[in-house]
Amino acid sequence: SKTYDIELIPGDGIGTEVVKAVMPLVRTVADQHGFEFETTRRDWGTEYYLNHGEMMPGDGLDRLTDADSIFLGAVGHPDVPDHVTLHGLLLPIRKGFDQYVCKRPNVLFEGIESPLRGYESGDIDFVVYRENTEGEYADLGGREHRGLAHETAIQSALFTRRGTERIIRAAFEAAAERERHLTSITKSNAQAYSMVFWDDIVAEVSEEYPGVTVERLLVDAASMDLIRRPHEFDVLVASNLFGDILTDIGAQITGSMGLAPSGNIHPGDEYPSMFEPVHGSAPDIVGKGVANPLATVLSWSMLFEDLGETDAADALWDVVTDQLADDAAPRTPDLGGDANTQTVVGDLSSRL
Ligand code: NAD
Ligand code: IPM
Ligand code: MN
Repeated sequence: SKTYDIELIPGDGIGTEVVKAVMPLVRTVADQHGFEFETTRRDWGTEYYLNHGEMMPGDGLDRLTDADSIFLGAVGHPDVPDHVTLHGLLLPIRKGFDQYVCKRPNVLFEGIESPLRGYESGDIDFVVYRENTEGEYADLGGREHRGLAHETAIQSALFTRRGTERIIRAAFEAAAERERHLTSITKSNAQAYSMVFWDDIVAEVSEEYPGVTVERLLVDAASMDLIRRPHEFDVLVASNLFGDILTDIGAQITGSMGLAPSGNIHPGDEYPSMFEPVHGSAPDIVGKGVANPLATVLSWSMLFEDLGETDAADALWDVVTDQLADDAAPRTPDLGGDANTQTVVGDLSSRL
């Protein structure tokens, strides 16, 4: 049977808890579908940083590059500034492996109560295509003049033709396969260079997809409309920063940060893709054993899907759907229950 090589980077905080907790479940599902995977666990993260002065070894990316896929928990620790930890581990992988499609589905599952009044399962089902290698996260060096009477800091954004066009094209492709409605998020009224450039490319690419309706929204209005009329969205495409922000809104209106999965996808064979829950290391609940593992399970589903193991991907997605629909099933506190991580995973396993 086929054996895949998967790199595991549990990282920090609840990242380590949820990554560990779901392993028996995902192994069982692989086994049931006739494939196996070998994992290499990398203990990189903030503890590694405190011991070695770097978040991962200097040749970290080289060690990962031959993998079939990568799974990451979360990065971030109260004792070390976030810009150090994130620029030392998570962001270099996304960028170094050219994982330019950040795919983040937002689905309101049956059994989950949205904080939005009147919304029921199936009413919210959209996917955000977030640009993942440049934009506002581009490392252009920055400049700062600190300690003077008039301090300044300069942080520029980078929008290349190649980078912008390929994420927009990926989103059009996704829309063509889904409900054929694409919403492009910008801030063209204030950002006259980058976002007008983005708008022009959307208009250009849209001519190749006459069957896809295109809506353009400013990011502030989009934030409002994700609350006001989330049922009308299908595929959203956004820059790195705007996509980051909108996917936290997406997670909350569909129930919890603890339910939101994501993929950092490098379409093509040159580099591995990386899958991770949308949430962070959650220092406020770390060590309590109550982190919701479902975002991690759904992210494994996306990983299996990406490997072409569609049946195993569906099995993981379906077992989560099944559990959430059962009001007698255990739930973690973020979903209003009092169960712990282990109990939730154990219940999932019993439903396979
Ligand atoms: P966070 O996602 O860690 O937590 C936000 C809130 O959601 C917290 O109240 C937390 O308890 C809750 N939450 C998150 N995941 C949960 C889960 N699985 N189950 C139950 N509740 C959950 O975001 P934050 O507090 O802004 O950031 C904490 C740290 O994580 C920071 O260092 C930040 O930079 C980092 N971070 C990392 C990633 C990542 O690795 N991809 C993503 C976001 C934030
Ligand atoms: C996410 C996170 C990261 C991002 C941070 C931790 C750098 O918020 O994956 O959504 O902004 O991409
Ligand atoms: Mn985020």
